Formats: sequence, structure tokens, C-alpha cells
Amino acid sequence: MTIHIPVLGAPIIQALANCPSGTVIDCTLGGGGHTAMLLECFAHRSDIQLIAADQDQSAVDAARIRFASGRIKIIHARFSELEGPISGLLADLGWSSDQMEDTSRGLSFQREAPLDMRLDQRRDLTARDLLCRDEKWLTDIFSRFGGERYSRTIARAITRNHEQLITTKDLAELIWRSVPPSARYGRIHPATRVFQALRIVVNEEMSELESLLKLTHRLVPQGLAAIMSFHSLEDRAVKECFRQKDLFRPLTKKPIIATDEEQVRNPRSRSAKLRIAQRI
Ligand SMILES: C[S@@+](CC[C@H](N)C(=O)[O-])C[C@H]1O[C@@H](n2cnc3c(N)ncnc32)[C@H](O)[C@@H]1O
Repeated sequence: MTIHIPVLGAPIIQALANCPSGTVIDCTLGGGGHTAMLLECFAHRSDIQLIAADQDQSAVDAARIRFASGRIKIIHARFSELEGPISGLLADLGWSSDQMEDTSRGLSFQREAPLDMRLDQRRDLTARDLLCRDEKWLTDIFSRFGGERYSRTIARAITRNHEQLITTKDLAELIWRSVPPSARYGRIHPATRVFQALRIVVNEEMSELESLLKLTHRLVPQGLAAIMSFHSLEDRAVKECFRQKDLFRPLTKKPIIATDEEQVRNPRSRSAKLRIAQRI
């Protein structure tokens, strides 16, 4: 069992501490790391109502126990189900270490698990359902959401063998066999990009991100948003959103990244990019 260590906690809390009165939402409760820091930060501000949300029922259940005595409301909701007005918003996108390690979810190719990948169990489609789609569709998503160079080769291998693909290991091994030998021993495992693409599609991450960015329009004047992303597709969308001059004053010209020390202590922080903006 790993413990999810919150990434870039100090700059996030430093920024959000200046929120105007009202509701502050941690949209990505996860293991509760940032939520605990927010609770402490706002302990003496009775003008702030804290809400923490997650699409994952098990994260919500664990937090309801952990924060039972805290001045906080914990809700099971996706970004697309959240509403304003809000004075502060935090989103730490992606998935937590606990979810990655959870062998019932199949998020990682390093753990043998069913090909599920849903972070919200209310969703209908699992990764295995998607693998039954046609070659063209699979090629497109592997390339669009994974930047996968061998997307067509991998998609073809999957469509020919999808009935045998039950677990994460089955899929990872098939990908390994289908790419050219020169691609098998690179810096990352050849299944990395396909797994990323499937996770994005199963959890509708791009449309959820769009909903999150729309939610920033519901910030009250002077309200603050801190959004941390872990891949370039997400970071580009956040940057574009905060560029709307009539709505936001960006407080980070360049994204904040983790210091060398934090990256050593918490490898997950290596690809984190944090952008903060204030509603005009
Ligand atoms: C990186 S973890 C958050 C970790 C947390 N900040 C902490 O310090 O423990 C991301 C969390 O966001 C949740 N999440 C991702 N996309 C979501 C969405 N569209 N709606 C609600 N929750 C989402 C995931 O289920 C996961 O628990």
C-alpha cells in the first residue's frame, strides 16, 4: 500500500489562503492530502465553507471517516456535476497512488487486474469494452490521447486478439509483442501510452476537464483557481482558459513545477504543472 503524498502543497495553500469569503471546493479529494492542508489553512476563517469532491466512492468513504470531525462537506461528484458560485477551487488532476495500486481497477500495467480503469463506478464502459471497438477508432485514440507512434500496429493486434484480453497483463504483453523490438526496451514500457489513452477515454477526462474549466467561470470576483495537471494536453487547456483576459488574471506566467528536492521525495511530482489564476 502506498500513501498518496500531495504535490506542490505549499504554493497551492499559499495562493488559496487569500480566497474571498464563500465556498472553497477541492474538486479532487483523492487521498485527502490537499484537503487536510486546506482544512488547517481555513481553520480560523468562519467565512469559508469547505467542500471536497471526488468521483471515486471509495475516496469519499475514506475521507468521511478521516475528516468526520472537520468543518467540511464531502461529496461524491464529478467536475461536470459541481456548481458555483465559488471563491476558491483546487484541482489536482489524474489519479492517486492508492487508485493506481488498487488491483481491482486496472489502471496500471504493472499490476495484474481486470481491464476496468473506471475511477467512477457509476460509469458503464470499461477499458475492456473499448478494446472491442474497430481498428480505426483505436488507432485514433492511441495516437490522440497517448501520442503513440505505433498506434495502428497496436490497434490491429488488439482487434485480432481482443477476446483473449482479460487483464492488464494480457494487454501489456500483447502491446510488447506487437511493437518493433527496438521499441521494447526504451525509457518507458511500450504499453504506457496506450494505457494513458484508455484511462483518458474511459473516464472522459477531456470533457471532464472542459467542465472543470467552465466551473472556473463561476468564481466570484477575486476568487482563485489552482489547477495542477500531469500531461501536456491538460496543461495546454488550462493555460488557454486562464488566458481569457476579460475573466482571469493569471498569477503564474509559467507553470509552477516541483523543486528537485520534492521530485526526489515524491516522484509523482516530476510531471506536475500548477497554474493559478484570479477571477477579475
Ligand atoms: C491526483 S488525485 C488527488 C489527490 C489529492 N489532491 C491528495 O492530495 O490526496 C486525483 C483525484 O481526482 C479524482 N478525479 C479525477 N477526475 C475527476 C473528475 N472528473 N471528477 C471528480 N473527481 C475526479 C480522482 O478520482 C482522484 O481521486
